[in-house]
Amino acid sequence: MSKINTIIEPFRIKSVHPIKMNTYAERLEVLKKANYNLFKIDSQNVIIDLLTDSGTGAMSSEQWAGIMKGDESYAGSTSFDFFEKTVKEIFGFKYIIPTHQGRAAERILFSIMCKKDDIVPSNAHFDTTRANIEYQGSTALDLVPEEYTDTQKYFPFKGDMDIEKLKVAIKKYSTVKIPIIMLTITNNSGGGQPVSMKNIKQVSSIAKKHNIPFYIDACRFSENAFFIKSRDPKYKDVSINDIVTEMFSYADGCTMSAKKDGIANIGGFLCTNDEKLAIKKKNLLILTEGYPTYGGLAGRDLEAIAVGLQESLDIDYLNYRIVSTAYLGDRISQAGVPIMQPPGGHAIYIDAKLFLPHLDKTVYPGQALACELYTQGGIRTSEIGSFMFGKFDKKNNKETYADKELVRLAIPRRTYTQSHIDYVVEKIIYVYNNRSKIKGLKIIEQPEFLRHFSASLTQLK
Ligand code: F0G
Repeated sequence: MSKINTIIEPFRIKSVHPIKMNTYAERLEVLKKANYNLFKIDSQNVIIDLLTDSGTGAMSSEQWAGIMKGDESYAGSTSFDFFEKTVKEIFGFKYIIPTHQGRAAERILFSIMCKKDDIVPSNAHFDTTRANIEYQGSTALDLVPEEYTDTQKYFPFKGDMDIEKLKVAIKKYSTVKIPIIMLTITNNSGGGQPVSMKNIKQVSSIAKKHNIPFYIDACRFSENAFFIKSRDPKYKDVSINDIVTEMFSYADGCTMSAKKDGIANIGGFLCTNDEKLAIKKKNLLILTEGYPTYGGLAGRDLEAIAVGLQESLDIDYLNYRIVSTAYLGDRISQAGVPIMQPPGGHAIYIDAKLFLPHLDKTVYPGQALACELYTQGGIRTSEIGSFMFGKFDKKNNKETYADKELVRLAIPRRTYTQSHIDYVVEKIIYVYNNRSKIKGLKIIEQPEFLRHFSASLTQLK
């Protein structure tokens, strides 16, 4: 008998959310009205929404059952007990602090750990992490190995931190200036690429040697564990739970957005092993998030997160998750579309610089491509390039640009079927085959910070 290794969605669908179909002409109108900014488009005008994988996943029947069970007591709810016990079991930390989402955990952590002119190294900080560090007057330092910046080269653990660069940074700034070392798993800004166990261990031992606390940004921890299992032969026969336990055993704490690998619509948490820090963090939590047994969440949210975290460790789910994301990447890549290689865990990143060689960075090729994917297929993606990370210096009337021009296709968890993804593949290939017609964009209005959320653009002739 032949061995069956085809991977299918490991779930049945029992509740659906209708998708409203629209035409090319309607989408063109919608895009013009939104001033070529996809954040300003209403969701009912989107056919396939790949803007983010954050909070957009489908919850399971067990999670919905948890929602009904939620204990909404202000203090000491049974839902908190369940949440705390589950997080402790999975991550192994002593103190668990719930927050309303990832960035709230970051704000509490960095406002306690950092002061003006401090330096916080990481493999690569996500934008909210960076913003929360900079808000304290500190600098967020990305330590990406040089060879990993080539989008077309394959490395199994392209999310690793450059260890030599970390050593140099510690020497240069001294341990007095470095209050904490972070590691983002998987590396979202760097293409959803995993971090190896070896790298986690190395960062941890350097941090320990210099007595610097080491925290993990754990948003996509189970996807990272799956990559370790499938790409590091040493872990081939180790269970996902054991890999996760080992990953976090090297850290002093973590921040987490439960909107990713918690498969919940909202929520997050902050973990630590340091009792004194935990007390400080809880005091700050009470000030802005809420009492430490709910931290800005409802009891029902805590239930959904606890169940979601357990489900994200299921091997059938992870197999489907990583293979289905790679399926999208491989299909478009086989048709010639330049993507960041290898495919990431939660998203595929198209290299818009290579996709649209006729468009200079000054006319935002990433955003131009994202707009074309919307008009041609009703597919909403996000630009991660000069529109998002570039800055306009009003004083000198000068624009700075990003290193890369990427378009991220983030895949919500358990939300779209293979047929939806085949539709996306078809549309991307169509756009690729007609790419020479795509026009550049110009910004006509922009706020001072985080301009990609609200700026207005126009299409160049
Ligand atoms: N860290 C990473 C690596 C993230 O990807 C995100 C969010 C956060 C922290 C912040 O978590 O949104 O719950 O406050 N990423 C989303 C995205 C928004 O689209 O990639 P949050």
